[in-house]
Amino acid sequence: MLLRVTDGDSKMSEATLPRHVGIIMDGNGRWAEAHGRPRIEGHRVGAESVRDITRASRQLGIEALTLYAFSSQNWQRPADEVTGLMQLLRDFLIDERSEILDNGIRLQAIGDIDRLPAFVTEPLRELREVSAHNTGMTLTLALSYGGRESIARAAQAALRDAAAGALRPEELDVERLGSYLPTASLPPLDLLIRTSGEQRISNFMLWELAYAELVFIDVLWPEFRREHLARCLEQYAGRERRFGLTSAQLDSDIEAR
Ligand code: FPP
Repeated sequence: MLLRVTDGDSKMSEATLPRHVGIIMDGNGRWAEAHGRPRIEGHRVGAESVRDITRASRQLGIEALTLYAFSSQNWQRPADEVTGLMQLLRDFLIDERSEILDNGIRLQAIGDIDRLPAFVTEPLRELREVSAHNTGMTLTLALSYGGRESIARAAQAALRDAAAGALRPEELDVERLGSYLPTASLPPLDLLIRTSGEQRISNFMLWELAYAELVFIDVLWPEFRREHLARCLEQYAGRERRFGLTSAQLDSDIEAR
């Protein structure tokens, strides 16, 4: 079956659609600078991209969308930028509440959420609760998030279980450690997109990226819309994912099915 992303020509097969897409939304500051506007304006227009990409992902049938909205390191940015970003997050949670619920989206967050101000955590908590049983798509906001921090916290939780006698060291294999991560309930990450032309991971989903396909696109996040998502999905659809096997092994596997 072919899926339409935009009203234009972009189509893709359902079979090659990633189940889980992660996005490093980069380039808000550069967009603002290029337009002679304050940095927060870049983030504000970036929030419009978040709305469009969330809608498009839901319409396409992507099961999980994870957005890197605020890193553990972003706390070190100028105070007015941090406050502005927190305000944008609050606005998003409030303004998009009914759209999220009407479209069967489950909203969740990963990261050190307790560091966020109450004016964000309160609407976040409420929307997480009321959307918890939705099955249309999971939208995960990575907030005060770091991939290394996330793995360290998983290790702490495993150690606590070990200390309580519920886990033996030899039981802590990849699957078991992965089960302590906040992304454990999501499908495996298939595709990571980073906007703005930078080619870095910046501490995002380090564990989950193990077999993800990476797409770097030279478009600043405030300008990234569904047609750009379509381009990234087309690139993904053209990739051969081998998971450590050879092409020949994959071919015989497909024939055997
Ligand atoms: C990186 O661009 C972007 C961020 C640090 C924040 C992303 C936030 C949003 C898109 C808006 C709010 C989010 C939601 C979910 C409503 P940058 O500022 O590092 O850009 P630069 O590298 O060009 O300076």
